[in-house]
Amino acid sequence: MNGETGGQALRDRFQRDIHYLRVSITDKCNLRCVYCMPAGGVPLVKHEDILRFEEFEHLVAVAASVGFRRVRLTGGEPLVRKGVVDFVRRLKMIPGIEDVALTTNGILLPQFAHDLKKAGLDRVNISLDTLRAERFRAITRIGQVEEVWAGIQAAIVEGLHPVKLNVVVMGGVNNDEIADFVRMTAEMPVHVRFIELMPIGEGDPRFRGQFVPIEQMKTAISNAGLELLHHQGVNGAGPARYFTLAGAPGTVGFISAISKHFCAACNRLRLTAEGRLRVCLHAKDELDLRAPLRSGAPDEVLKDIFLQAIRQKPHEHAMTEKGWGNQARIMSQIGG
Ligand code: GTP
Ligand code: 5AD
Ligand code: SF4
Repeated sequence: MNGETGGQALRDRFQRDIHYLRVSITDKCNLRCVYCMPAGGVPLVKHEDILRFEEFEHLVAVAASVGFRRVRLTGGEPLVRKGVVDFVRRLKMIPGIEDVALTTNGILLPQFAHDLKKAGLDRVNISLDTLRAERFRAITRIGQVEEVWAGIQAAIVEGLHPVKLNVVVMGGVNNDEIADFVRMTAEMPVHVRFIELMPIGEGDPRFRGQFVPIEQMKTAISNAGLELLHHQGVNGAGPARYFTLAGAPGTVGFISAISKHFCAACNRLRLTAEGRLRVCLHAKDELDLRAPLRSGAPDEVLKDIFLQAIRQKPHEHAMTEKGWGNQARIMSQIGG
């Protein structure tokens, strides 16, 4: 994956360097994207079952002592949780944590970008599946695309670089906008990443009819007369592969979760809002940290649970172009 830094290596059974923790701080979201949540939302985890920020901080410090160097806050929508700015400030003070990033739908960024930057947040990834106002409303069921644009501008102005845009491509929904997104990178310093739809949550029933493989996206781009050149990648630790238009300030990335999975380069664990360590986005296996944490277990015990989760990481996920059918959580309960 891109932009790897040095430091203590923590290898799993397949010699992968595991150092990136994705922390879902809430399962709540202020949007209802059609490929993620049902219109009525999903039953939320009880307030007392969600970790407090001090608890997350404690676990991230333990993770750092094990060798984790990068943290990404996800949700649901992480910015709906009160106190997130202060939480970022505290994470940045943990020795060993080099990069704290956030994945957001951008709606609340105009309000928070400045304070997040001041608190030390390194960068943001913002979901934006369409450039068209009506379509945005249809995909998110609630949102106004102008709000996300204000969020993107705020992120750029505050210097939360690289500002990445996540575009989940769906056939018959937004795949006719691929070239428009690519052209945008010639005008703006944004890193547009096209993501293959995954059969998770509400993505599952859509998957058969709407899955668009990366190769098809690339064909649409060259058919539009746009030539993508290889790019060494922008700062990050995720699975995207990057390209650029000649002379463009932005880049174009592809996240081929299904057609060409990137599990061989996997570097991450996920921590859910209720304090469970998930060994793979697509595996049901989770190890509970909340009970030992709340019963006052020593850090050595918590450390061992991180190490156990790393040992349990599977070789690869089991989703194929035919689907998956093995889901217990939806994306907003994992954080992508
Ligand atoms: P950086 O490269 O560090 O910026 O992070 P990222 O691209 O991993 O973060 P982001 O949260 O923006 O994720 C982008 C997309 O990649 C989302 O749709 C995620 O669900 C997907 N993704 C992230 N990690 C994994 C993974 O481990 N496996 C799979 N299959 N998809 C992932
Ligand atoms: N398939 C692919 N990406 C998804 N995301 C949410 N649900 C899906 C899905 N079914 C993306 C969001 C966000 C990221 C965290 O995960 O758009 O960018
Ligand atoms: Fe890692 Fe699982 Fe994602 Fe593959 S699917 S990259 S093993 S988290």
